[in-house]
Amino acid sequence: MTLIDGKKTANDIKLEIAQEVKEMVARGERAPHLAAILVGHDGGSETYVANKVKACEVCGFKSSLLRFDENITEEELLAEIKKLNDDESVDGFIVQLPLPRHIDEQRVTEAIDPDKDVDGFHPVNVGRMSIGLPCFKSATPSGIIDLLERYDIETRGKHAVVIGRSNIVGKPVATLLMQKAKPGNCTVTVCHSATPDIKQLTLQADIIIAALGKPEFLKEDMVKEGAVVIDVGTTRVPDASRKRGFRLCGDVDFENVAPKCSYITPVPGGVGPMTICSLMKNTLQARKSKS
Ligand code: GUN
Repeated sequence: MTLIDGKKTANDIKLEIAQEVKEMVARGERAPHLAAILVGHDGGSETYVANKVKACEVCGFKSSLLRFDENITEEELLAEIKKLNDDESVDGFIVQLPLPRHIDEQRVTEAIDPDKDVDGFHPVNVGRMSIGLPCFKSATPSGIIDLLERYDIETRGKHAVVIGRSNIVGKPVATLLMQKAKPGNCTVTVCHSATPDIKQLTLQADIIIAALGKPEFLKEDMVKEGAVVIDVGTTRVPDASRKRGFRLCGDVDFENVAPKCSYITPVPGGVGPMTICSLMKNTLQARKSKS
């Protein structure tokens, strides 16, 4: 069994990006600039955004964090997005989700210029991705594909079973795995809450992507010998022994599933670190597409 080290892979990619940025700057070009909008004080969002800012430093990017009170109106937020759309010094930006309930997240997502939508959430980018056109791919699916590539895991002709059909993981990762590409060329089955017998499907899988958000859902008796298991779960489970009062729990019963696998990602340290890395890749792509 090989443990897929997402932390190391993400660090390697960030160093490669940093090297490329160093060369850009040495040629007299401007470094990439990522802006992030953070509304309110959600604990998880604060951590995610702080990590994104930190990753920008590692990559040599400029970053701007725009904070707004949780009482900001939808119209005011849309006006801020327009400013970033129009600001030529900003290559890409994100609006950290979730937003307060009085703001329509879909309207906000669709207000972002697709050419600056480095989260890859705008329907234009989602649509372009689904038909294999150049686009900003959303972070988690793109990070998963990078892990498969960097570990040289054969995907062609394999049966991939995706558990979960969310717009930000399940659907796009299924799309990428089925695409005529490398990695890709899988036969893909997508299971969800209305699938009657998930075990019968996962037992046929060469590759399992667990992205349903249910701690330790995937058990040993659901996995065939030699399968590749990618765990996208990051549920916060209360844990008084931890300084933060919780621990991150994946969707896979790691201890019992791991011995059966050819490759498996841990939680934390698997898919998680790769997502920010994908955001950095998209921001570099945004910068390069302008020069
Ligand atoms: N909230 C949780 N994950 C993400 C993400 O990848 N992008 C944004 N904008 N918000 C998030």
